[in-house]
Amino acid sequence: MHASKPASRVASSCCCFGGQTAYRMQARPHGPRYKFMVPGSIHRHSSSSTSSSFSLPINSSPGHRRLPSVVEEEAKQAICVLDMASRAVAVVALLLLAATCAQAQLYEKFYGESCPSVEDVVRKEMVKALSAAPSLAGPLLRMHFHDCFVRGCDGSVLLDSANKTAEKDAKPNQTLRGFDFVERVKAAVEKACPDTVSCADILALMARDAVWLSKGPFWEVPLGRRDGSVSISNETNQLPPPTANFTVLTQLFAAKNLDTKDLVVLSAGHTIGTSHCFSFSDRLYNFTGRVNPSDIDPTLEPQYMMRLKGKCASLNDNTTLVEMDPGSFRTFDLGYFKNVVKRRGLFHSDGALLTNAFTRAYVQRHAGGGYKEEFFADFAASMIKMGNADVLTGSQGEIRKKCSVVNH
Ligand code: HEM
Repeated sequence: MHASKPASRVASSCCCFGGQTAYRMQARPHGPRYKFMVPGSIHRHSSSSTSSSFSLPINSSPGHRRLPSVVEEEAKQAICVLDMASRAVAVVALLLLAATCAQAQLYEKFYGESCPSVEDVVRKEMVKALSAAPSLAGPLLRMHFHDCFVRGCDGSVLLDSANKTAEKDAKPNQTLRGFDFVERVKAAVEKACPDTVSCADILALMARDAVWLSKGPFWEVPLGRRDGSVSISNETNQLPPPTANFTVLTQLFAAKNLDTKDLVVLSAGHTIGTSHCFSFSDRLYNFTGRVNPSDIDPTLEPQYMMRLKGKCASLNDNTTLVEMDPGSFRTFDLGYFKNVVKRRGLFHSDGALLTNAFTRAYVQRHAGGGYKEEFFADFAASMIKMGNADVLTGSQGEIRKKCSVVNH
């Protein structure tokens, strides 16, 4: 495990170039690790494209000749229509700009003055915890994903509810682990910087460190999220189920502003961690609802199917855990793609990536093993994109004192 702190931080010099992601990679001084400098600093947008001139100056040219009154009236009306159209365009442009700015409010040095030690505090706790329990890495990465997909990355997944109606009470979240540990890290951060760092940001940093400490990529996390105060179990229907086909997956990702590439890249988060049998046993025993051992998912590779049946004895198995990337489930690597290309993706949703030409090509490219750094850079970029989902910033939301309860 790479337990050492990342070497010197490099101030981000990246930004969005016409929607394209710009990377700068730096070899780490100690060892073969790379630092992915990704476009967290969206605050460097150029503002030159907005215009504040809405109306046409009809009488402004020095040589302007007066028009006869009827013609003049028609001209005025035409100009008025044009004027309204240009105002509408300007309003749309402003709205788009506002939407971009809402995303742009996250940036890497957000706590540079208010809590410069936050990343060190989080990392120290992460190193300690993952040294003792490496299997926590998977749940913490997954928790950030589940946070972002429901109400945006606002820490809503962490909230408790007295009557068990919060996100964490919903079925897909009942298999999440590590809530106590998040609370412990929050307490350590509160000690260093009271009332300053949101739980949503702490979770984003923990997810990044979970990946990095599992020998995956490192990236600078744009920060500045605020915590929400609402958590509703029914809203977890925005999370993709393991039974989802490609169409459903792309729809659910698109709803979070994530595209097909993000889908295939982020699905590779399944290179670490474990799954309960019940999350995929329908593929082994009940694929079309006939509940018998021959009612199998035909897209699953037969030998792997037999192995899984050996581990998950029945549909009722509620306890057994299976490695999602057998043999290297604690290492963030290309193992996921190597499994999926052989039709050994654990969930139907993993196998669904072979049903689309783009995602299939991506899986095949990375199953070959020759482009690990490219995948790492892609993963870092998609994580940053996911981490932008519907964030609360500025005066929205609050900075919770404890992650499981709202402040008032
Ligand atoms: C594409 C749609 C996705 C589906 C349908 C899906 C579904 C699942 C399911 C059913 C489990 C097993 C839960 C259990 O039984 O314990 C799981 C585990 C996991 N997922 Fe996903 N997931 C998806 C995307 C993602 C993404 C985007 C990430 C992160 C970037 C992610 C990270 C993980 C991790 C790390 C685990 C292992 C958790 C552990 O070790 O406890 N998943 N996922």
